[in-house]
Amino acid sequence: KFAPRVFSGIQPSGGLTLGNYLGAIKRFVDMQGEDYETIYCMVDMHAITVWQEPEALRRNTRELCAGFIASGIDPERSILFNQSQVPEHAQLGWIFNCVARMGWMKRMTQFKDKAGKNAEAASLGLFGYPALMAADILVYHATHVPVGEDQKQHLELTRDIAAKFNHDYEVDFFPLTEPVIEGAATRVMSLRDGSKKMSKSDPSDMSRINMTDDADAIASKIRKARTDPEALPSEAAGLSDRPEARNLVNIYAALADTSVDGVLSEMGGKQFSEFKPALAELAVEKMAPISTEMARLMQEPAEIDAILARGAERARELAEPILKRTYEIVGM
Ligand code: ADP
Ligand code: NA
Repeated sequence: KFAPRVFSGIQPSGGLTLGNYLGAIKRFVDMQGEDYETIYCMVDMHAITVWQEPEALRRNTRELCAGFIASGIDPERSILFNQSQVPEHAQLGWIFNCVARMGWMKRMTQFKDKAGKNAEAASLGLFGYPALMAADILVYHATHVPVGEDQKQHLELTRDIAAKFNHDYEVDFFPLTEPVIEGAATRVMSLRDGSKKMSKSDPSDMSRINMTDDADAIASKIRKARTDPEALPSEAAGLSDRPEARNLVNIYAALADTSVDGVLSEMGGKQFSEFKPALAELAVEKMAPISTEMARLMQEPAEIDAILARGAERARELAEPILKRTYEIVGM
């Protein structure tokens, strides 16, 4: 009944890292092809659930778009656009605010994390964000969403909203969207502390590789990454108590499109003094062309804006009839 369609979004809140690339953008690139229609969105309406400087938001939206394109998202094969340019997201989001229950929303663990100690001072948008995320997905009848661990609960809420809508209005209108869960190898940890996720919010720039880093910065951060004095084991099991070592091998495997055991069958027995230069070379080979292309695109904001405008037009062609039918079902 529903054509295979992938939707995913990333917030243009600035500072893309190797974690965003391996955990999200590279997977989006790999999903482009004959199996699915792919729809990728810069979710600026989610970004403003916490304060964003207007000029920074505009710049970060273009930078994220440049990051997608430089990484291999083809704006012809995929639909690439900015959420606020397709008003159907907000329109369906309101309807879903009226479908979702307060009790469901209160169980969302990410709100507690993001709102911190002073939840009373958080925006209403931050609390309601998962209902808008359901609309982002369902306004396209998307059947599959690539998600990280941290978004699994939100996707379950999306399914709950779809099921309740279908039940209340006695229709079979919204699909129950399936998660496409990432493998463990795509969880990238800090280069300084293997127990923390690589993140733009880490105060140390040495803890992460930014998608805008040039070849020298990439190589030097890998050379200086924390490791332990042991040689590499010959199997993945030998990395279980060695988070920093495991992280570097994971990064190698993800960049090389192979498994951890695949890397270790080649690198097992080597010291980090040998492994790190190999990893640095691979990371530079894969990531430096992306940062170079991002820098070029950022000099051409009109080119980026034209791509986003065209993407929004294509997205609206899909979203408009689905919203129109939703209104009819609801009686509006
Ligand atoms: P958001 O608030 O939109 O989740 P993030 O920057 O945290 O913003 O994440 C954007 C995407 O990148 C998400 O799909 C997330 O799972 C992925 N991601 C971010 N950091 C990492 C990481 N260190 N390892 C793997 N994936 C990551
Ligand atoms: Na996240």
